[in-house]
Amino acid sequence: MDIKSKLPKSETTIFSVMTALAAEHQAINLGQGFPDYDCNEDLKKLINKYLVEGRNQYCPMPGLLALRESIAEKIYKSYEVDINPKDEITVTAGATQALFTAISAFIHSGDEVIIFEPAYDSYYPSILLAGGIPKPNRLYAPDFKIDWNELKDMITDKTKMIIINSPHNPTGTSLEEQDLLNLQEIVKDKNIIVLSDEVYEHLIYDENQHQSVLKFPQLFQQCIAVYSFGKTFHSTGWKIGYAVGPDHLMKEFRNVHQWNVFSVNSFIQYALADYLKNSENYEYLPNFFQSKRDLLLSELENSPLKSTPASGTYFQVFDYSKISDLPDFEFAKYLTTEIGVAAIPISPFYSIEIKEQNIRLCFAKKESTLLNATKNLRKLRK
Ligand SMILES: Cc1ncc(COP(=O)(O)O)c(C=O)c1O
Repeated sequence: MDIKSKLPKSETTIFSVMTALAAEHQAINLGQGFPDYDCNEDLKKLINKYLVEGRNQYCPMPGLLALRESIAEKIYKSYEVDINPKDEITVTAGATQALFTAISAFIHSGDEVIIFEPAYDSYYPSILLAGGIPKPNRLYAPDFKIDWNELKDMITDKTKMIIINSPHNPTGTSLEEQDLLNLQEIVKDKNIIVLSDEVYEHLIYDENQHQSVLKFPQLFQQCIAVYSFGKTFHSTGWKIGYAVGPDHLMKEFRNVHQWNVFSVNSFIQYALADYLKNSENYEYLPNFFQSKRDLLLSELENSPLKSTPASGTYFQVFDYSKISDLPDFEFAKYLTTEIGVAAIPISPFYSIEIKEQNIRLCFAKKESTLLNATKNLRKLRK
């Protein structure tokens, strides 16, 4: 059979590759972004309750209204913004699906989409599948800041979308208020949608506030923002999240959502509708993860791995150029097979070849895991 691939250059994601290598070599996995501890017992009990109670049939296409109402309440508590749960929120099968759906809904053949690289790896292929043209803007270590003048110069009359991600995977950086104001000014009166990946919204440190696009009323009119319960509630395997946008965009988002997912699993939606009502269930997250970040950094303080503390996410980037000349993928393999700690190289987050020598470690791990991993990493010598 003659099959013409739509993604002929696509390879297995770096996360699967490094996780498999970690398992093969029994390395401590600080590679892929998932916790090695379980999610909350009360949440599991709620899920069990609704499953046993028989909440097992289709939910409405945009998501259970009670859950959308709880999400709107959570948004108000977090950002003091009123979002209409009926028309402006859609529950999705994780953030990846929400991103894919948004790109499919708004990108037509030949449209240009600006992404900032390093970029989460699903953006590029999703744009290609929609017939769009990815236009990467490169960010540079160590601060990975966006140059807004450079972005302005990249915009053409074919630019239909800009994808931002804050807090940012893989760099652990986050956008500030002025960044969002710059973006708002740049897209004002243009036919450009901002797709804002905010899956790490609650993972923000050192007393900083997450700058959500939802907080900028004018910008919001051109935005779809995407969230993940997997990231917020330590349950990446559930694949449930949501998208938020003004009704005129959400209408079109749902137009595609109903033909690729229709509705998301029912009993977890019922459980989350209850669980979200208590803001303590997410307000503890900055402190919880900041102490893990600080443990990782303090245990490696005297090692030759150099870092700027992550301001968000559960990822910390380390520069290993003092230790090795290896390219980052080779170095990540060496760490996994010889040092016993799996890491993620940064180069797969770029569509171009890069020479910088950085790896990413995930600190969403038990204290004992972080201590064991850092003990191994301290064996690295200049
Ligand atoms: C920046 C970013 N966006 C989206 C996702 C995907 O989220 P989900 O598992 O809810 O699809 C991830 C997961 O690692 C991520 O890091």
